[in-house]
Amino acid sequence: MPIEPLLEIKDLRTHFYTDRGRVTAVDGVSFTVHPGEIVGVVGESGSGKSVMAQSLMRLLDHTDAIEYEGEVRFQGRNLLELPLSRMREIRGNELSMIFQDPLTSLNPVYTIGNQIAEGLIQHQGLSRKEARKRSIEILRLTGISSPETRVDSYPHELSGGMQQRAMIAIALACQPKLLIADEPTTALDVTIQAQILDLILSLNEQLHMGVVFITHDLGVVSEICTTVKVMYLGQIIEDAPVRELFRSPLHPYTQGLLQSLPRLDTNRDEPLSVITGTVPSLHHIPKGCRFSTRCPFADDKCRQEEPPLENATENHKVKCWHYANLQQEGEGVSP
Ligand SMILES: Nc1ncnc2c1ncn2[C@@H]1O[C@H](COP(=O)(O)OP(=O)(O)OP(=O)(O)O)[C@@H](O)[C@H]1O
Ligand SMILES: [Mg+2]
Repeated sequence: MPIEPLLEIKDLRTHFYTDRGRVTAVDGVSFTVHPGEIVGVVGESGSGKSVMAQSLMRLLDHTDAIEYEGEVRFQGRNLLELPLSRMREIRGNELSMIFQDPLTSLNPVYTIGNQIAEGLIQHQGLSRKEARKRSIEILRLTGISSPETRVDSYPHELSGGMQQRAMIAIALACQPKLLIADEPTTALDVTIQAQILDLILSLNEQLHMGVVFITHDLGVVSEICTTVKVMYLGQIIEDAPVRELFRSPLHPYTQGLLQSLPRLDTNRDEPLSVITGTVPSLHHIPKGCRFSTRCPFADDKCRQEEPPLENATENHKVKCWHYANLQQEGEGVSP
């Protein structure tokens, strides 16, 4: 029997109404996350990764000028249709999110311990004493030293790295079924980053926690993710199992991203980015293929007609008119 997906996103669109008109920051995104799967989401700044993540969690609902379309099914229920009160019960319990900036989710007026315990008491029915004990355990797991004393600290009493770990402890305390991690370790030094990734991986293995892992760091993606979605201007342009994506990227954009990875055998002073130009504004979305304005292989068809996201192989999808020809030309496409 096939395993039921944990999260099933179908044709998600997130529109903002701005002074300059409507913009669509997430435009027709679909993917699924199964229990135990770690889905990587990559793409340049402004590609819609955070808006996508925050849409799933309904964290943008306070913005009046927002509209969603499509479905976000979490264990079968469409989160986009749930009343916010019900959504709050799910958030931080079955579904958690961690961000790059810990201060956006830490409450300055409560101790770290109380913030971790709150979820455990509210969602899991633990007594105050049990919750405190568990809070100390989870703080220890995130690599915080002397968790017995840190549990009584207020956020401002902790260093940036410790705040980040405290936020991760809050998110993971209730052992969520699904974790959305938006650049959770970018601000941390490499040793702590490795500890946090280990913690996420161990919960993923032990509890079969599903993870959506958003990052700029393709190195991290290659280490921890099962599949990768590459986003460009609000759309997924390539979607493949991680090894497949690194071995044979099909979209010129993905090829560019991978070529900009620093390699040990090249001169580190060389410019890293091989993709020229910048991501166009959402107010001026290019006609046809959205990447055509920057793509070295674009022709008239690319500039006129939008390619579909189609299956190149059974589990490798790509949104490009010419991927098959580019592939035949063989060896790493170098513009
Ligand atoms: N409240 C808003 N109103 C209008 N546009 C918005 C709003 N929030 C985000 N956007 C736009 O949505 C687009 C996607 O932004 P998003 O923050 O999701 O990018 P990202 O992929 O997470 O980038 P980064 O890698 O820098 O974090 C951007 O063009 C951004 O300007
Ligand atoms: Mg972001």
